[in-house]
Amino acid sequence: MRSPNRGISKVRKAMESINHQYLLAHHPEGALQESNFTWQEAPVPKPAAGEVLVRVLYLSLDPANRGWINKGGSYRDPVLPGQVMAGFTIARVVESKFSGLAAGDIVECEAGWQDYAVLPGDKLHRLEGDAPLELWMNVLGLTGKTAYFGLLDIGKPQPGETVVVSGAAGATGSVAGQIAKIKGCRVVGIAGTDEKCEWLRELGFDAAINYKREELAQGLRAACPDGIDVYFDNVAGDTLQAALLQMRLHGRIVCCGAVSQYDKAERAPSPMGLPGLLIVRRLTMQGFIVMDHYDRRQEAERELLQWVREGHIQYRLDIVDGLKQAPRALIGVLYGDNTGKRMIRVDPNT
Ligand SMILES: NC(=O)c1ccc[n+]([C@@H]2O[C@H](COP(=O)([O-])OP(=O)(O)OC[C@H]3O[C@@H](n4cnc5c(N)ncnc54)[C@H](OP(=O)(O)O)[C@@H]3O)[C@@H](O)[C@H]2O)c1
Repeated sequence: MRSPNRGISKVRKAMESINHQYLLAHHPEGALQESNFTWQEAPVPKPAAGEVLVRVLYLSLDPANRGWINKGGSYRDPVLPGQVMAGFTIARVVESKFSGLAAGDIVECEAGWQDYAVLPGDKLHRLEGDAPLELWMNVLGLTGKTAYFGLLDIGKPQPGETVVVSGAAGATGSVAGQIAKIKGCRVVGIAGTDEKCEWLRELGFDAAINYKREELAQGLRAACPDGIDVYFDNVAGDTLQAALLQMRLHGRIVCCGAVSQYDKAERAPSPMGLPGLLIVRRLTMQGFIVMDHYDRRQEAERELLQWVREGHIQYRLDIVDGLKQAPRALIGVLYGDNTGKRMIRVDPNT
């Protein structure tokens, strides 16, 4: 299969001599500030044997990025002051000294917050097929696959069950909710604005709750009169607390993320009712990291693409132009100013 947008002429056109980068200036103490990052210009690096030079096209902005720059790190080693800020990217191969890749190939990689990066060839994943590039940042990318594996493997939704999704108008939540609809569930979304809730209804969610305007526990009781079978938790904190109290017997809580907690110096205490409610209602509460499921990534990508093509999954792209905007755009994701998948278009020619 050919790689999307393959074209040597584009590669040549894209070649520049300056590599714009954001470095981590210092670990945040409490809320993330733009001043936590430093902008700099460096020369475009050269690949050695086994390495590949890539031009970043799109940079993904993920709430988890906030955890990566904490002093202690998170599920991976922390980014240290003076290092290029880490980030998931879609990039075009400019020069390859690795036998498996050629100039013009489009790859998924972790090039970070910069225009160009040299990476070991075996760390790059070539994208195949003719799906639009933005889709690889979104439904077919990390967040779509997170929704797929989290909901299906951990949530195990059954037809007729009630599924509640928080962060529902975000990249992961919007896909998780639509997969639950495909599986024949009743789906309730929780989001932070009326516009987001309106979009969720357009996507086919049966109900949507604006947690900033409504009392959440009351909203959940009204929207889920028989209780919740699967709660897909993107936010933790008060939202998890409210959902937990309304779980049905044998319910499943999918611990996907905790975005309400990432930008705080002090984390909220664990919800009240643990472990008592888990025992009495025989609940399962399970966390996961999407990469642990990547041995089945092709299965997920194939099925997600089919659902997009059949119109069962719709998506919104929240594209911010220019690498320079990355710090402000990441802070925005942590406070809900995105709808759908937020990404930076790093190469203006993309
Ligand atoms: N486990 C994994 O492998 C994995 C992989 C990818 C992502 N994740 C997690 O999945 C979650 C969603 O990530 P995403 O990339 O799809 O981001 P996203 O949902 O597109 O953006 C984050 C959203 O969270 C909501 N939010 C922010 N603060 C909140 C708060 N205090 N209470 C409730 N909602 C709040 C905001 O929407 P509102 O306007 O609705 O507040 C915001 O738009 C994150 O927790 C992320 O860490 C996990």
